Amino acid sequence: MVVTVEDLPQAGDRVVFARKGEFAKEGVLREEFDGGKLATLIWREGRGRIVYVGLGEGPVTGDLLRKAAGTGVKLLRRLGAEEVYIDCTAFPERADFAVEGALLASYRFEDFRMPEARKGGPLRALGVAVGKGGPGKVRAEVERATTLAEAVNYVRQLGNQPANVVTPAVLAEKARELATESRLSCQVLGPKELEEAGFGGILAVGKGSDNPPRLIVLEHRPTAAPPIVVVGKAVTFDSGGISIKPGEHMDEMKFDKMGGCAVLGVMRAASRLGLPVPLVGVVASAENMPSARAYRPGDLIRSYGGKTIEVLNTDAEGRILLADAVGYAVERFAPRLLFDLATLTGACIVALGRYRAGLFSPDSGLRDRLWQLGEEAGEPVWPLPLGEEFAEAIQSDVALVKNVSGAREGGGSVGAAFIQHWVGATPWVHLDIAGPAWVSRELPYLEKGVTGFGVRLLIRYLLSLANQEPQ
Ligand code: BES
Ligand code: ZN
Ligand code: ZN
Repeated sequence: MVVTVEDLPQAGDRVVFARKGEFAKEGVLREEFDGGKLATLIWREGRGRIVYVGLGEGPVTGDLLRKAAGTGVKLLRRLGAEEVYIDCTAFPERADFAVEGALLASYRFEDFRMPEARKGGPLRALGVAVGKGGPGKVRAEVERATTLAEAVNYVRQLGNQPANVVTPAVLAEKARELATESRLSCQVLGPKELEEAGFGGILAVGKGSDNPPRLIVLEHRPTAAPPIVVVGKAVTFDSGGISIKPGEHMDEMKFDKMGGCAVLGVMRAASRLGLPVPLVGVVASAENMPSARAYRPGDLIRSYGGKTIEVLNTDAEGRILLADAVGYAVERFAPRLLFDLATLTGACIVALGRYRAGLFSPDSGLRDRLWQLGEEAGEPVWPLPLGEEFAEAIQSDVALVKNVSGAREGGGSVGAAFIQHWVGATPWVHLDIAGPAWVSRELPYLEKGVTGFGVRLLIRYLLSLANQEPQ
């Protein structure tokens, strides 16, 4: 769908970047447009329109190009454009960033909008002009960015669906379809299999709901080497259960499945990019509801592998799901590295705000690397601590561990310390994506709704590994 060309076509709708201080056009006053950061100017030329998007005067980072391309494409789409060209002749080696921003900006969730309120179909074609000598060199990068952005949009389309549409069973069906389309192998465990294999955590969390839980396993195995495993929390709706949440913003808990959805996106992109690294995705999905059958505060449960949990708050359900999924992943796959992604704690949002994920790992090299890659991916993360003090806070009098500390402080780290019991000595990174999994207002290349956070970061990491160790 994305084409790379040498020059911008003379007709049609186009996005052109402008540096502050360098932009001059007859008939345009400085007060109207001067190339200031993300300022826009619409210029009609022949049968098409040019949207000039300002880059300001500072350094032109990859993320600025994403934002500028996203701004321009959104504006043209609002004006009815279906085919858009972007002028990247000044930054051919970074055309991939512009493509990523443009494709992410062109996604809209309109499934439930009335036809008259829909703003048009998807972008039919996107072209990127990269100048002479460019196309051959940058084509591969542009293709990679396209696959990646499409995977993110796939995650957003799935994640924006509400809990009455996407139940754990539906999520598992979607994973099966994904596996068929993307040449992955797929295995789904339903309530019966979960019962037989001793997944006491997932079953407990799902007990209160009429929509029973699922465990989904997707595999991309280009070689027989030990895989990297990515585990995701997919709570299709988190009411809090018996420890029910307050009503305000409870609707947003339809997005409590985004860790698991991101895992599906990572698997999709990994397979379609032909990543040489063996990769396994494990998604634990349940709906957390109060009912006569729901699990309760005080319940004692046996997780997969036998480690016991004292439930003191049914709203700290994500870690209980992850206990089972991580325990299973470690036992079955002996991963060389384990990631988990989860909208785990409100405390992480308090600590880091809404745009940055909490990064927990005992490995300082991994922390540094993922921080750097997060900046480049436009999916920023920040390290938060692991430590004995957090493990101590969840020591239980009657089980191995209790699921909450009973105090508010260090909530993100307490959640991580809980999961660590099931990780053991496996190299591990925990990403608490409670903040950035969705946005409540429009951003330059994202609309309001889920963001697909984690896919771009993890794929960047996996690609960097692939480049490091030619296989
Ligand atoms: N899904 C929530 C965490 C969350 C809150 C994500 C807000 C995004 C936005 C999680 O299951 C939860 O309820 N966590 C509790 C833990 C507490 C009971 C220790 C929380 O953060 O309040
Ligand atoms: Zn909860
Ligand atoms: Zn939750």
